[in-house]
Amino acid sequence: MNNIYSNIYKVNNSNLSKAINRLKKKDLVGVPTETVYGLAGSAYSSKAIKKIYSLKKRPLKNPLIIHYYNLEKLKKDVDLNDNFFKLYKKFSPGPITFVLRKKKKSLLSNIAIARLKTVAIRFPQNKVLRKILKSLNFPLAIPSANKSTHISPVSAEDVSQEFKRSIKIILNDGSCKIGLESTVIDLTSKPRILRPGFIEPKDISRVLNKKITISQNSKTIKAPGMLKRHYSPGIPIKLNQKKAKNNEAFIVFGKKYKKRKNIFNLSYKSNLNEAAKNLYKILRLIKNKNYKMIYVCSIPKTGIGLAINDRLTRAAG
Ligand code: TXA
Ligand code: MG
Repeated sequence: MNNIYSNIYKVNNSNLSKAINRLKKKDLVGVPTETVYGLAGSAYSSKAIKKIYSLKKRPLKNPLIIHYYNLEKLKKDVDLNDNFFKLYKKFSPGPITFVLRKKKKSLLSNIAIARLKTVAIRFPQNKVLRKILKSLNFPLAIPSANKSTHISPVSAEDVSQEFKRSIKIILNDGSCKIGLESTVIDLTSKPRILRPGFIEPKDISRVLNKKITISQNSKTIKAPGMLKRHYSPGIPIKLNQKKAKNNEAFIVFGKKYKKRKNIFNLSYKSNLNEAAKNLYKILRLIKNKNYKMIYVCSIPKTGIGLAINDRLTRAAG
């Protein structure tokens, strides 16, 4: 068999240069981040952005997150405010995305932001990606590197599986530290969380010194990608189950469950961070094993458990 992963490159200076050159030529590169792997392209180039939407089969009305190296490179694209500065100081670079107002003079591709007046921005923490961002004079639009609605990738192999040879370079930085997408918070008016993630509501509340709501209203929700089925393995999923048959995959949490072929434990130690890191890996594994039904036990709705439950609920459709 041919090496199916021949588009996966280890991280070294020569491969970093190759990736950077591709981005400069308005081509796409698979990149690691601390949350999930992403599909990166120049946020200032509509040509690159169109490739992202087309490869992902992503609806054009679903805007991308724009990734920056630092504040300096950001200032000309969006209006900053006090809430932003407080959160930026505490959590960036890291797994948090801020929705801010776009500046009229911004150079961002209109397609990348779905022609909205707002922009979602993030400063990723992953060192490899930061090196790339530092060397470019444009920011990168980076959605998760999966086909629209599919399971997000947490390793370079996952990305290769999703897109086969249609991406020429995927930089391999091992498995993602967090394994779930960034927290998205809208700061254009009263702060509210649009997508739960590793940075928890209570941590944000503490920094802003006010109660933060998680947006529930799907009609006015500002993150179109969160409306419908998402993060889905394409297999029926039933949540909050106590047991499963042998031919059903059973996703569990904690040590009270037996070790069996069809039992996939997110964390024996009942550690929610570990569970978050394993979630997409396990969903993909179950899909690759051709199970026809997934049962999931109940998972605590505290801390990053909120984000895990959010993703599972959307995966269940
Ligand atoms: O952790 C992450 O954020 C990963 C890594 C690769 O950085 N990226 C990621 O991107 O999850 P994506 O495209 O899979 O999800 C972006 C989310 C979508 O739900 C989208 O609707 C929302 O961000 N979004 C983008 N621009 C927005 C805006 N102006 N207002 C509200 N939501 C927005
Ligand atoms: Mg995504």
